[in-house]
Amino acid sequence: MSPAAAERDVLVVTQVRAIDPAVSLDAEVDVVVERGKITRIGRGAASPELLASERVERIDGKGSWMLPAFVDLHAHLREPGEEYKEDIRTGLTAAARGGFAHVCVMPNTKPVNDKRSITEAMVARAREVGGPALHPIGAITMGQNGAELTEMADLKDAGAVGVSDDGKCVMSAAVMRRALEYARTFDLPVIQHAEDHTLTEGAQMHDGPIATRLGLRGWPRVAEDIIVARDVLLAESTGGRYHVAHVSTLGAVRILREAKARGIAVTAEVTPHHLVLSHEAVLGYDTACKVNPPLREKEDIDALRAALADGTIDCIATDHAPHSSLEKDCEFAEARPGMIGLELVVPVLLGLVRDGIIPLARFVDALCRAPARIVSLEAPSLREGSLAELTLVAPDRPVVLDRFASKSKNTPFLGKTMSGAVVMTLAGGRVVHRLDT
Ligand code: DOR
Ligand code: ZN
Repeated sequence: MSPAAAERDVLVVTQVRAIDPAVSLDAEVDVVVERGKITRIGRGAASPELLASERVERIDGKGSWMLPAFVDLHAHLREPGEEYKEDIRTGLTAAARGGFAHVCVMPNTKPVNDKRSITEAMVARAREVGGPALHPIGAITMGQNGAELTEMADLKDAGAVGVSDDGKCVMSAAVMRRALEYARTFDLPVIQHAEDHTLTEGAQMHDGPIATRLGLRGWPRVAEDIIVARDVLLAESTGGRYHVAHVSTLGAVRILREAKARGIAVTAEVTPHHLVLSHEAVLGYDTACKVNPPLREKEDIDALRAALADGTIDCIATDHAPHSSLEKDCEFAEARPGMIGLELVVPVLLGLVRDGIIPLARFVDALCRAPARIVSLEAPSLREGSLAELTLVAPDRPVVLDRFASKSKNTPFLGKTMSGAVVMTLAGGRVVHRLDT
């Protein structure tokens, strides 16, 4: 991780397009960062005297965007237990390179993060590493066994910002009901991996014509919809905070839209891959496209995009799921589901912004304020006096997606060239990433 500059020195980004919908900002300004804080934002904020000072590092922001740094609600950093795929150091470095200042990490580690000691160890390791802040998500049930609730008070006290059994669905309605009630007393969101496992046994991809053609067993949409529908009813009756991980179907979108209209406390996230890839990507048995939930069809993608644009889906979350070549260079049926995402968000999604499918302000909100609110974190913001947590993006700069800080390379975008580079990231007032030029 590149050493800190912004803490002692003055960093000035001149004539940059600064965009932060949280403060209704979209203007070409100078941004001044001193000792880790944003001290000035405005046209001509960087005076000639300031720019002449030796303490100042000046970056020409022309043609670039200054955004509040991103918050990821959903990443798998694999430590403890599967450090050959990723560890907290490489995961946080990947996050910094992707523009993130905060990363919430899922508990399906080995062992599962279902107790205070593991949550504490993760937080301590992240502090040692430095860089973006790590926020653990504790398990809902012990060992993610779907039966016995974790001690959520302890998890929260140790730093957990939510609970989830991600990778597995909480199948029992009774357990889910108790989880929502219990988590509510600690104001923790319950994050559901919505998959009725009785409907997805042996499933390899989306249940549709491509699965039939490839002779692979399908994962029907209804397996997701049925759980989201049930959980919305449980959220309504308990008053608990319910969040749906990686929404993938048009049916789930419809249920969420109705639930929100009725004032139920539900929120949802969508991954970059579900927004841009369909089940057709699996046609060559490309294991990089095996992901859970699976890549769906055009009508799902259209519904997900519309829902993200209108706020029915609150935020974008990466579901960064590193796997080694051992788990991916094999038969499709043997391959583990998941793809990496932390370093890919900007290049993969900027096309949707460019094409007017997702308004730029909504894109920024979906990566920063909306996810921060769900896990009760203070969102990075382009406000004078705020801690400097910033992402500088060169939207037209081509990037070749072939070198990652992540230990794993499992992405169907490997080797592709796309537009949109994260040039610099500041987290906690420090520079945690600079693109080599
Ligand atoms: O594709 C996925 N990979 N979906 C999940 O829910 C879990 C994740 C993983 O941990 O690899
Ligand atoms: Zn996940």
